[in-house]
Amino acid sequence: MNFEIQKRALSRVIRDDLDALIVLWPAQTAATPSEKDPLSTLVSQAVQAGDLELKAGAVLAMYGQAGIKARHVAVVCSQDNTPDQIRSAMLAAWSALKASKAKKLGVYLAGEWSASGLDAAASALAQASYSYTTTLSKPHHRTLKQVLFSAAEVSSELCMALAQAQALIAGVELAKEWANRPANHATPTMLAQAAKALAKGPSFKCEVLGPQDVAKLGMGAFLAVAQGAAEPLRFIVMRYNGAASSQSPVVLVGKGITFDTGGISMKPAAEMDEMKYDMSGAASVLGVFKALGELKPAINVVGLIPATENMPDGLAIKPGDVVTSMSGQTIEILNTDAEGRLVLCDALTYAERFKPQCVIDVATLTGACVIALGGVRSGLFSSDDELALQLQQAGDRSGDLCWRMPMDDPYAEGLKTRFADVANVAGRAAGAVTAAKFLQRFAHKYPWAHLDIAGTAWKSGAAKGATGRPVALLMHYLLAKAKAKAKVPARAGRPA
Ligand code: BES
Ligand code: MN
Ligand code: ZN
Repeated sequence: MNFEIQKRALSRVIRDDLDALIVLWPAQTAATPSEKDPLSTLVSQAVQAGDLELKAGAVLAMYGQAGIKARHVAVVCSQDNTPDQIRSAMLAAWSALKASKAKKLGVYLAGEWSASGLDAAASALAQASYSYTTTLSKPHHRTLKQVLFSAAEVSSELCMALAQAQALIAGVELAKEWANRPANHATPTMLAQAAKALAKGPSFKCEVLGPQDVAKLGMGAFLAVAQGAAEPLRFIVMRYNGAASSQSPVVLVGKGITFDTGGISMKPAAEMDEMKYDMSGAASVLGVFKALGELKPAINVVGLIPATENMPDGLAIKPGDVVTSMSGQTIEILNTDAEGRLVLCDALTYAERFKPQCVIDVATLTGACVIALGGVRSGLFSSDDELALQLQQAGDRSGDLCWRMPMDDPYAEGLKTRFADVANVAGRAAGAVTAAKFLQRFAHKYPWAHLDIAGTAWKSGAAKGATGRPVALLMHYLLAKAKAKAKVPARAGRPA
């Protein structure tokens, strides 16, 4: 999908060679008498006839109107052009247009685009027109190929915002693709191949470790989860170097459970298919690397993905087994379904070698987080106030929201056991928090944050599918970091 922006009056846009056109109309504003183009005339007629109420979200769909080149037109009212308003206006307009199978879509905004409004419009259209095709014999490919935004004024800032939006969309869609793929089409080996393919080019490196390497490193917790699976594990190490090598990297860790049966503590059958999304954290790290490759910001980023299936088997771990993690801490595995924290804890220890400025792990970690926050906000856990604030703000700016959760030490009480340094589960209460408290024991050597995306990484029900979250949040965070560094003159990074 390609996005462009041009300076154009509405009277000109209606003569553009487009298949479909969306016009964002300011709510409460009827056309002024000076606007004599056929579209404005139609809108004022519709308002007078009571067929279009000028309130946010109202849509007027038209077809084959004289003087308008685009056959399909949707006029949609927007109250104040905030990103949220624009997002819902675009979704409403697109549902009126999607049957048109338009290839080339124009979007006109009466008034001024803001950078965040443009970002919201582009990502809403991408989201609405996305279609998964990989494992269909007769796939319906996305027809929408080109979106042409028009406005009365166009600045270079807006052009950059659109280029950034386009790169983020590419990242989000890559994350969706991998998360949506069934587990037999997204094995640890396949994820590693995808990472290798992404890491082409001079600023990238990718190293893939197998079972023997992981054993040599002493990753006893990660190995324990993988020992019940016939599919071999992979530990993926990706590097993006956009800044001086003296600059310490941001490390992203993505949970890569390519299928979570629960292991011996097996999950119920209903909706178990959804556990193919249990590598959404890993998919979001791949998505971030895709976007980094397009934007080349002045920052260093490391991506770590511990990838394995969680399977029941004669060799699988059993409740009560005690294993030794890479950190040296022993762990009593009371529930084999709490496997995410086991693969993550060794990756968090491995992250120490990069002397990171911070480490952010991303994981579909707990059903408890789904209960706490649903699909609206990801759970954010951090003992570092500055990092937490930056992630929260990146979430707000991108519309990919998160919410900070508590991390008080008493929450860790339930993880105590007589048989190891720590147990991998506590009671049912505050399950998302106790999982974070478990991880925190392995993340003491750097500022650390954990995003629990169990509720936000995919949607259940009829519109079942991956959302590509939190790629946008992470990219907004990284781009803000790169920008902030570039402002310090003595250590200026190279321009993006
Ligand atoms: N992958 C699941 C978490 C999950 C559950 C994600 C539902 C999305 C939807 C994770 O590995 C898991 O099974 N967690 C357990 C932890 C429990 C055993 C302490 C859970 O949440 O039930
Ligand atoms: Mn599990
Ligand atoms: Zn899991």
